[in-house]
Amino acid sequence: METLLLKPNKNSILLASKLLKSGEVVGVPTETVYGLAGDYSNDEAIKKIYFAKGRPLDNPLIVHVASRKMLKDVVEFVPEDAEKLIKKFWPGPLTLILKKGEKVSNLTSAGLDSVGVRCPDNKIARKIIKLANTPFSAPSANISGKPSPTTANEVYEDMKGKIPLIIDGGRCKKGVESTVLSLLNSPTILRPGVITKEMIEKVIKKKVLISSEVLSPLSSSQKALSPGTKYKHYSPNAEVFLVKGSLKSFVDYVTKNYKEGDFALVFNKEEKKLTIPTLTYGKEKNDSEKAKNLFSKLREFDKLNAKRVFVRSPKESGVGLAVYNRLIRSAGFKIITLD
Ligand code: TXA
Ligand code: MG
Repeated sequence: METLLLKPNKNSILLASKLLKSGEVVGVPTETVYGLAGDYSNDEAIKKIYFAKGRPLDNPLIVHVASRKMLKDVVEFVPEDAEKLIKKFWPGPLTLILKKGEKVSNLTSAGLDSVGVRCPDNKIARKIIKLANTPFSAPSANISGKPSPTTANEVYEDMKGKIPLIIDGGRCKKGVESTVLSLLNSPTILRPGVITKEMIEKVIKKKVLISSEVLSPLSSSQKALSPGTKYKHYSPNAEVFLVKGSLKSFVDYVTKNYKEGDFALVFNKEEKKLTIPTLTYGKEKNDSEKAKNLFSKLREFDKLNAKRVFVRSPKESGVGLAVYNRLIRSAGFKIITLD
C-alpha cells in the first residue's frame, strides 16, 4: 500500500475523514503524540490499528471525541468529577477512564467494560472527527514497543506501506501521551502526563492516587489497571540506563565505563562536561521541554546506531513524573543509582 504524507488543508482533511468513515486507518497529529486513528465503532478498522502497530489485543485504545456532546455514545454516564475535569481540561491531554457506552467496539476496549476517552487539543484532529462525524480510537502511531512519534516523519518511518494516509501537523506541542485518570473508583492516575496530580486535585477537591504501575514494574501476580503498562515500551534499539545522582558522579561513571557505541542523554549545557557522544533533551529545570523532546531524542539514537544510552534522570514530580515514567520503561527498569 502506498502511504501518502500530506500537509493539512481542506482536501487532505476531507480525505482523512472519508478514509476513517470507510474503515481505514489514518495517522493524525494531536497535541501529545501522533495517533493511529480508526472509527471507534468499527471492529474491522480497529483490527487494522492493532495489526499495523503489532499491538497485543488485550491493550485497549483511547477514544477521541471532538466535543463534550460526542461523549454520550462513548460512555454510559458522566460522573460529577469527570464533568468538572472536562470543563477545565478539554480540549487537552487528559484521558478519563469511564464506564463504556454501547457503541464502542469491543476491540477498542479490549473486552473491558470501561473506556478511555479524551478530546485532543489539536484543530486538525478535531476537524477530522467532526467531518467524519464519528469519534476515532487512536493509540500512539508507533510500532508497539518503540518511542511514540512526535513528528509525521517518525510516523512514516514506522507506518510506511501499512496505512494509506498520514497528516503532517508539525511537531507535537506536548511530546508525551495524555494523563490517564481512572474515575471508576477513587480517582487514580494510571499514566502521568503534563496534566499533573496536583492540577487534577485542585479541580475535583479530592485526593488523587497514583497507581503503583506508574513507578514500578508489575509483579507477576499483579493485574495491570492499565494493560499498556505490562509491556516493554518507548524503547530505541539501544539498551537504555536511567542514571540517578549528581552531574559530577554521572560524568565520572560514564567516562569510566565508556565502550564504543555508548551515548549519554543529559540536560542542556551539561554536554560540555562530557567527553563521550552526547545528546541533550532540555533544561534541568524545564520538565515540559524534556517531555516535548524525549521521544524524538530516543529515536535519534537509532539513527546514530547507539548500543547503550545513559540518561540523566529527571525529577519525579509534576511534569517530571511523566518524563520519568516513560524513561524507566524505556530502560526496562534498569536504574543506576550513584552518590
Ligand atoms: O496522548 C495520548 O493519549 C495518545 C494520543 C494519540 O491521543 N494516545 C495514546 O494511546 O497514548 P496508547 O494506546 O498508546 O495508550 C493508551 C493507554 C494504554 O496504556 C492503555 O492500556 C490505557 O491507555 N487504556 C486505554 N483504555 C483503558 C481502559 N479502559 N482502562 C485502563 N487503561 C486503559
Ligand atoms: Mg502508546
